[in-house]
Amino acid sequence: MVRPKILLVDDEENIIKQMRWALETDYDVLSASSEAEAMTLFDRAKPSVVTLDLSLNPHDTADLGGMRLLEQMLSQSPLTRVIMITGSDDEANALRAIRLGAVDYYCKPIRLEELKVIIKRAFHIQQLQQRAQEKEQAALDAFQGIVGASKAMRDIFRFIQRVAASDISVLICGESGTGKEVAANAVHQQSPRKNNPFIVVNCGAIPENLLESELFGHEKGAFTGAHAQKRGKFELAHTGTLFLDEIGELAPSLQVKLLRFLQDRKIERVGGTQPIELDVRIIAATNRNLQKDIKNHVFREDLYYRLKVVPLDMPPLRERRDDIIPLAQHFLRKFCQEYRKPPMTLSPEAEGALLMHPWPGNVRELENLISRSVVLSARSILKPSDLGFALDQIPTDVNLKFARKAIEKDFVQKALHRNYGIVSRAARELGISRVNLYELINKYEIHVKEFKAMRTAGKLSMKRREAV
Ligand SMILES: Nc1ncnc2c1ncn2[C@@H]1O[C@H](COP(=O)(O)OP(=O)(O)OP(=O)(O)O)[C@@H](O)[C@H]1O
Ligand SMILES: [Mg+2]
Repeated sequence: MVRPKILLVDDEENIIKQMRWALETDYDVLSASSEAEAMTLFDRAKPSVVTLDLSLNPHDTADLGGMRLLEQMLSQSPLTRVIMITGSDDEANALRAIRLGAVDYYCKPIRLEELKVIIKRAFHIQQLQQRAQEKEQAALDAFQGIVGASKAMRDIFRFIQRVAASDISVLICGESGTGKEVAANAVHQQSPRKNNPFIVVNCGAIPENLLESELFGHEKGAFTGAHAQKRGKFELAHTGTLFLDEIGELAPSLQVKLLRFLQDRKIERVGGTQPIELDVRIIAATNRNLQKDIKNHVFREDLYYRLKVVPLDMPPLRERRDDIIPLAQHFLRKFCQEYRKPPMTLSPEAEGALLMHPWPGNVRELENLISRSVVLSARSILKPSDLGFALDQIPTDVNLKFARKAIEKDFVQKALHRNYGIVSRAARELGISRVNLYELINKYEIHVKEFKAMRTAGKLSMKRREAV
């Protein structure tokens, strides 16, 4: 069995000897007596726990080499548990070390039995955190790098997991840039079809006359220019998933053909006479209001209900502000790696600015903004101006006030959303009076009407979601 590794760093030979003797039966013990040696061993062996003597210079006890090592080790490997060993009269520095991220400190003289207990606990914490992080990572991987910390996104993850197993069609609705394609991909990746093709067609990007043969293929000689037989995207997606993006742009004649496929799972190539039976799961997405299109007779109602067996609504970023900072950090990591820049973080003011922004372009806008900032900025801690926000817009000393406002507005919007714009009910839920709620609605210029309009649509979609 692999024994857990511990690195002891102390310039006093005697102390190392004693500790080694006490720990060797339970751990794989490494030791170093200088900063340089300690870092080399740390890099090579990646110990789970380290004990660090605060001062490593026998000629100058004011030189706090242990503190430097602590910072260096934790910045390289944040999950390492470090225990500081200090002189008996050095509580101030011990506390500073704890603030920097050490798990514990121990004052000399060393009583081995006591120190052993502290070390054992550090290993235990390290293991728990490692396991928690692995689980978190696994959850992220399972969703193909979809980041989501908000309740709305966590509900969507669960929803995707539930619908992925079946073959039913999914209609994903949401504003531009909210992650509709990412969600469609996750449904495929979570499904038993994951090793089969995932084919994407953007129905809005291809002219109607070409789209038909693109989707259904054609026989040789079906039309001028059809020199050879061609298989369409439906056939290419056989045994897998076909993602029809911007389904609202599909011409009426093709809507009929798609409906026919959804009814009897067969297609015909353009100019063909033989129906071809296919096993394809359909996922469609749109940023249009299809119900309006149905009223205006540009989208078929029967097709709509066939597609919308399970509806998935991607909420806009301004309605799930809990996702903004995790997404920004995700994109920062991604682009720093991609552009080979040292890691960057956000200053509290920059976080405040991101939280306040209305995000009309949703996640894509955030992604582009971070990408641009990583390219252009030379700083490692980004300020609002690095993100392209005007500095005077974000007075640095009222960050908390801004954050509070953003949260308050978010709370009010969500309560109105849940209660379909019925102010008295939303007020009750928020625990404030109606008059107060009206004040907030005016202050944040919230349009209550929009939430009322969602009432009928919302009821329908909730019922269907419950039915899954
Ligand atoms: N939850 C998320 N986690 C990580 N990246 C995301 C997330 N949501 C969206 N993205 C990224 O944001 C960008 C836009 O997402 P996507 O293309 O899925 O949006 P969309 O709703 O299909 O947009 P459009 O309506 O413009 O087609 C993509 O680069 C995608 O990788
Ligand atoms: Mg898209």
